[in-house]
Amino acid sequence: MSKPINVAMIGQGFMGRSHSNAWGQVKRFFKTELKPVLHTVFGQEFEHPENFAQVWDWQNASTNWEETIKNPEIGFIDIVTPNFMHAPPAKAAIAAGKPVACEKPISATLQEAREMSQAAEAAGVDSFVWFCYRRAPAVALAYKLVREGRIGQIRHIRAAYLQQWADDSVPFAWRFKKALAGSGAHGDLNAHIVDMTRFVSGLEITEICGSIAETFVKERVVPNGNMTDEELRYSKDAKTGTVRAEVEVDDTVLFLCRFDNGAVGSYEAARQATGNFNRNGFEINGTKGSLKFNFEDMNHLEYFDATQPAEVQGWTKILCTDPCHPYVGNYWPAGHLIGYEHGFTSMAYDILRKLNGEEPVVPLPSFTDAYNTQRILESALISATEKRWVNVADVR
Ligand SMILES: NC(=O)c1ccc[n+]([C@@H]2O[C@H](COP(=O)([O-])OP(=O)(O)OC[C@H]3O[C@@H](n4cnc5c(N)ncnc54)[C@H](O)[C@@H]3O)[C@@H](O)[C@H]2O)c1
Repeated sequence: MSKPINVAMIGQGFMGRSHSNAWGQVKRFFKTELKPVLHTVFGQEFEHPENFAQVWDWQNASTNWEETIKNPEIGFIDIVTPNFMHAPPAKAAIAAGKPVACEKPISATLQEAREMSQAAEAAGVDSFVWFCYRRAPAVALAYKLVREGRIGQIRHIRAAYLQQWADDSVPFAWRFKKALAGSGAHGDLNAHIVDMTRFVSGLEITEICGSIAETFVKERVVPNGNMTDEELRYSKDAKTGTVRAEVEVDDTVLFLCRFDNGAVGSYEAARQATGNFNRNGFEINGTKGSLKFNFEDMNHLEYFDATQPAEVQGWTKILCTDPCHPYVGNYWPAGHLIGYEHGFTSMAYDILRKLNGEEPVVPLPSFTDAYNTQRILESALISATEKRWVNVADVR
């Protein structure tokens, strides 16, 4: 007998669409005991959430997130608002004893991330963070191969998440304001690759150095939006009337690190890496083999097996679309490729399993996991500002 669980989603932007799709699709592709009901979507008044609700099959629309979270009919809260608006609804959900999922980075500040982690642990409430790339079948396969000892002792990790969208024609938005976003490419992109490599390798970053944070576009034009003058540090061109706001976050952050097994690594996040659309990937090099992943070619995992005789050694490009690969058997037959949205649907499936007391296919990141990723990001920013080694254990 399946059991319904009423979901409320707080926010309705880009992630609002991808999560609505996931909650709608999961019951079609996966057999689950818990069946999500798209009960209520929250959006700001000017967004007219009733229109969004109609398109994405939400039963109700709300412009009051506090009331939505308190509604006794709601059993699960999903937060897809900008980073500064993660902690307030997350804490309200925890206070109401409701399991809660939140977009990444967990928060705009380390303090809020710590508070969210502590609140979830103290209340014993299930918490999840949408590090969706863990559930690309190729990444979940990499996780499995590392645990099978296929690449031996990991010695070196290179990770880079490169995008190109933020040239100077892109207008000001919450993503460029420190109080709203926390950081730029760092929290947006490095958060994903730090989580993904911690997940695949099972290693923890202990020390960081050589970090560089750079903002190339210092000001952006403010579009006709809903940000108040107080929220912006702005300048107005007397002749044209164009309002420009100061960009307060990074465009690019690079750093070097050591892991707890003695391995070393490098991370790169950039929003102006021309020619790269969503090149989110890693190379993990071990004593017996290596793995490579690039999300722009997300159905493939590359594997080098150094235990093979030298005459046949070489990179194997594995098409991860066979039903034996994680999650794939629930979608299409072998060779029928899957895409970006499937990571979210597969994560919705694992969340439903966890809420029903079952094991997820691969581990899910909790608020505490995401807080630990945030500590690494914060350590890198300290290294960039103070130009020194930073011990991650000291950053809490
Ligand atoms: N997992 C991923 O791959 C991924 C990808 C993109 C974004 N994200 C994360 O998802 C979150 C949302 O990003 P997005 O791209 O969907 O943003 P967005 O700007 O497209 O949408 C944000 C939505 O939040 C709501 N909102 C905005 N300001 C608010 C306020 N002051 N009070 C209440 N609600 C408000 C609105 O409904 C808005 O539509 C961010 O934390 C971002 O880092 C994750």
